[in-house]
Amino acid sequence: MCGIVGYIGTRKACPILIEGLKRLEYRGYDSAGIAVLNDGRIDIHKATGKLMALEAMLESGMPEGFIGLGHTRWATHGRPSDENAHPHSDCTGRITVVHNGIIENYLALKEELVAAGHEFTSETDTEVVAHLVEESYKGDLVAAVRSAIKRLEGSYALAVMAQDDPERIVAARRHSPLVVGVGEGENFLASDVPAFLQYTKRVHFVEDNMIAVLERGEVKFSSLDGKPIEREVYEVTWDAAMAERGGYEHFMLKEINEQPQALRETMRERLSSQVSKVDLPGLTLTSDDLRGIDKITMIACGTAYHAAMVGKYAIESLVRIPVELDVASELRYRDPIIDDKTLGIIISQSGETADTLAGLREVRGKGAKLLAITNVVGSSVARECENVLYTFAGPEIAVASTKAYTTQLMVIHLIALYLAQVRGSISEEQAKQMRKILWTIPQQADVILGDHPEVLACAEKYYNHNGFLYMGRGPNLASALEGALKIKEISYIHAEGYAAGEMKHGPIAMIDPSVATVAVAPQGKTYDKIISNILEVKARQGDVIAIAYEHDDQIQKYADHVIRIPATHELMSPILAAIPLQLLAYYVAKNRGLEIDQPRNLAKSVTVE
Ligand code: AGP
Repeated sequence: MCGIVGYIGTRKACPILIEGLKRLEYRGYDSAGIAVLNDGRIDIHKATGKLMALEAMLESGMPEGFIGLGHTRWATHGRPSDENAHPHSDCTGRITVVHNGIIENYLALKEELVAAGHEFTSETDTEVVAHLVEESYKGDLVAAVRSAIKRLEGSYALAVMAQDDPERIVAARRHSPLVVGVGEGENFLASDVPAFLQYTKRVHFVEDNMIAVLERGEVKFSSLDGKPIEREVYEVTWDAAMAERGGYEHFMLKEINEQPQALRETMRERLSSQVSKVDLPGLTLTSDDLRGIDKITMIACGTAYHAAMVGKYAIESLVRIPVELDVASELRYRDPIIDDKTLGIIISQSGETADTLAGLREVRGKGAKLLAITNVVGSSVARECENVLYTFAGPEIAVASTKAYTTQLMVIHLIALYLAQVRGSISEEQAKQMRKILWTIPQQADVILGDHPEVLACAEKYYNHNGFLYMGRGPNLASALEGALKIKEISYIHAEGYAAGEMKHGPIAMIDPSVATVAVAPQGKTYDKIISNILEVKARQGDVIAIAYEHDDQIQKYADHVIRIPATHELMSPILAAIPLQLLAYYVAKNRGLEIDQPRNLAKSVTVE
């Protein structure tokens, strides 16, 4: 997820672009750049790192000009670097592009363009757009952009400028957000409203497969085949801070609600349809390598460790090889039995967690093959593993991890299915079934994020409770631990996650009317057992909140509250169970009037041991 901005008007473009990028840094911040057109020349400045690096570069003087583009990057293809920072240009420097999204067929396009003599200066997917426009540009920028985007597959919100056409910016979108701000004699474009809200609240929300042409006095919209489209102007009511959070009160709630899209983006290149096989582009481990593995060890901390716990169930069930789990801070001191037949899977949202990096180095030193699951391109974990599978969740700003967790689970299930495909550990029929179920997860997440009155009612009833016990079985033991961590992290209420079968071995002594129990109870092979555990709690006057399937008509006989999720395969149920647990934690903390996005004592990335 990146941030793009554009301006055309009668004011100097550069300060407006920089201000706009500041408001979009939450969308990505590993590099930034601007391009300003003045007197027939496009002046480009870009810098790796946060926006302040670009600002420092411009201290000696901002480029002149009244039309320009800007970009703040969250790398997906090509590590963070000056060369990979946007804006990108064609061979001649006459065409300049900024882009947010993923051009899925960029490699094929790049080969075609290189064969036609184009020279590339970056590793990004975006640069192919500049060269495609160059191929078609004969003075009509709109026509050239239209022709170029017809070749693109994947997601994009892009804006294009031509050196010899200072009268317009051409923009287009598919699956990535793009908004246009309407001013007086000036117009703005951006990935999100906050970028220009201080200048205008009059906004066009650009739809998919639409082209926008911004001139100083007018904005024109058309379809990909050139038909003019009339667009309504909206008056935005948010203030700038609310707008940065997409209208949500906290980044955490925004990121919880981004999960369906984050799951789709993470699945997109790897499971392209309900009936296709799993593909893991970028994996350098060969099928022989994967068939030669006799053990997997998974290394992570915190929420990422809970994802690893789910992974153990999925991989052992589908691939039938042993999976060892370690919190990274323990692994590094237990001298694990690792060799070159071990696959080390390193999970880290930030890719910078010190304990996880130490665990990575420990298993690498013992000869393991490494595969990272991380959300940050170019992070230390990504750089130190020869194989990396990214979660395309976009920047996760809230300290409490949400969309990173569910997208980690998505990647883990894709890995499990891919390993099963390669090793033939399940029948093709079973594999087809599993893929079909995984394919529906993102839209099921959408369903959960619709109405959730039960969550709000539970948060209202229990936000002043003394404590919570979370219990689950099988892959949902991880859900119990994750749910307890979420509520602890942001509401500061003590909460413990436990294997439901362990309740009678101690934790049940905690139960009384001031301690509520959350039972993660999707129907599966241990459903009857967890019903017994719920009854144990009820017998001791403890309230029970159950997370259960929509069609479960038994659970309400036992639990005080039932929060329902769509039914899915038991192995994948933690992906969906996570969402109500996140929402419960969020609303409990909100009812307690707490900070939420930046909880006390915590950091988003724990880079110290
Ligand atoms: C999760 O909500 C916490 N913020 C924390 O447990 C986090 O998951 C842990 O620090 C690991 O971070 P990483 O995924 O960036 O390595």
